[in-house]
Amino acid sequence: MTLIELFILIVPLFLIQRVIYRLWFHPLARFPGPKLAASTSLYAAYFNLVRGGQYTMKLPELHRKYGPIVRTYPNELHIHDKEAYDQVFSIGTSFDKYRPFYDHPFGEGSHFNMPDLKTSKSRRDMFAPYLSKATVRKMEPLIRETLLHFIEILLQAGKEGQVINLTKGYHSFTTDAFLNYGWRRPFHAMEYTNFQFPSIAYMNDFLIGAVLIRTFHPLIRNIFSKCRQLVLDVMRDPDSENTLFSNLLARHSKDSGMTDCSPLSVNDLTAETIVFLVGGEESTANTLIHGTFHILNNDAIKSHLLQELYENIPDINALPDSLALEKLPYLTAVIKESLRFTHGPPGRLPRVVPAAGARLCGRDIPPNTIVSMSHYVYHNDEKIFPNPEAFMPERWMGDDSHYLDKHLISFSKGSRGCIGINLAYAELYLAFAYIFRVLDLDLHETQAEDLEWRDFYAPITKGQLKVTACGRNSVH
Ligand code: HEM
Repeated sequence: MTLIELFILIVPLFLIQRVIYRLWFHPLARFPGPKLAASTSLYAAYFNLVRGGQYTMKLPELHRKYGPIVRTYPNELHIHDKEAYDQVFSIGTSFDKYRPFYDHPFGEGSHFNMPDLKTSKSRRDMFAPYLSKATVRKMEPLIRETLLHFIEILLQAGKEGQVINLTKGYHSFTTDAFLNYGWRRPFHAMEYTNFQFPSIAYMNDFLIGAVLIRTFHPLIRNIFSKCRQLVLDVMRDPDSENTLFSNLLARHSKDSGMTDCSPLSVNDLTAETIVFLVGGEESTANTLIHGTFHILNNDAIKSHLLQELYENIPDINALPDSLALEKLPYLTAVIKESLRFTHGPPGRLPRVVPAAGARLCGRDIPPNTIVSMSHYVYHNDEKIFPNPEAFMPERWMGDDSHYLDKHLISFSKGSRGCIGINLAYAELYLAFAYIFRVLDLDLHETQAEDLEWRDFYAPITKGQLKVTACGRNSVH
């Protein structure tokens, strides 16, 4: 028998043996789910690669058929159960992030890529003071400054009769807002004609590339060199001003005399910059995009929001701060519904069951099993959110709104939940309020189908949000 003949014989035998093991002898063999998903990861790959980011959309159907626990990969259980969710995504959780999923080359050296709580916590503790509610409040004028400039650009585009690509516009705004907040050094993405700043123009390719082939679109290398340059600039010339990174560098540089932490290398700082930039701009922009579309697409929602804004902001030369805006019930409801619709990352966030095993949904789960949960499944649970596919801010205004708040998980929860939540809320309150109070926007050739998305860790839409804009007269 030649080597090739031996190979042809052995490979199928090996594959058959593996499928038999996975279906009948694997520690997860007794859990329900499609047999094909239990046998091979190709089942998920079909939805994610061939049909493009669609396994997430299949999950509600699988849960309806198989119950709260479904075996969605040979070594992974997908869970739809809020108690189990609270157990896995808790403060001090013992469920680590699943390393291969989070090993994005763009974040190597950052806390985002660190699977375990201990290492990531010490890094998160360094950043947390700069993103606390109190700091965000203090630095809010920087967000306002970026936002007012963005509104000026939209007004000018409106005056010139341009159709505005608000998908790219919002990504440019959140990019500059975060860089202004954290570094006082925006990329001036908003200044590019038609918001064609390269990192934003190619962000989708970047995300799809990072998820599918774990590599970069060559054009997106731009973002890496820019972030590295940002770090080097701050190191060379740390301003006396209170910026996130200049403070960090001052505290954590080799000369700082601090003993509670090791200094961060330029590579680590670059990775952190990228992770903050992508994390900070992407989800916030998506929430603005989906929220804006649904407000403009529904006259009742739009006029309810405008009425509240006119009553509470009579003078556009005296725009209130986010503390005042947080008290507006309909604006708050619009923001929550936009977050529910966008999900943050909509798909599976895989975690590893600790060595002692776990008990979830009343069942023993073996150690090292990957358990994952998807925001899309939770936010579309019709027992919690009736008519989940409808954009209905009113659902957040009833007596049960505190109960619903517990089920809004767009920022995730626990020790690995979003570290930028306070900044994100400040941006959302200010942007929704100021943009709708100052500008009269109309949809331009944008339908609901344009905002249909595929899951590439971030929800990537089929089309773009396009609008026309003009300034509002002061009378509603
Ligand atoms: C609407 C806006 C936002 C949403 C919905 C959101 C959502 C989330 C979610 C769900 C996670 C956990 C992801 C996972 O476990 O895989 C996360 C993590 C993270 N977010 Fe946000 N985010 C938003 C805005 C921001 C902003 C403005 C920043 C910048 C300060 C930021 C920075 C981060 C970082 C650095 C992490 C990683 C935390 C870790 O790994 O421990 N996010 N975010």
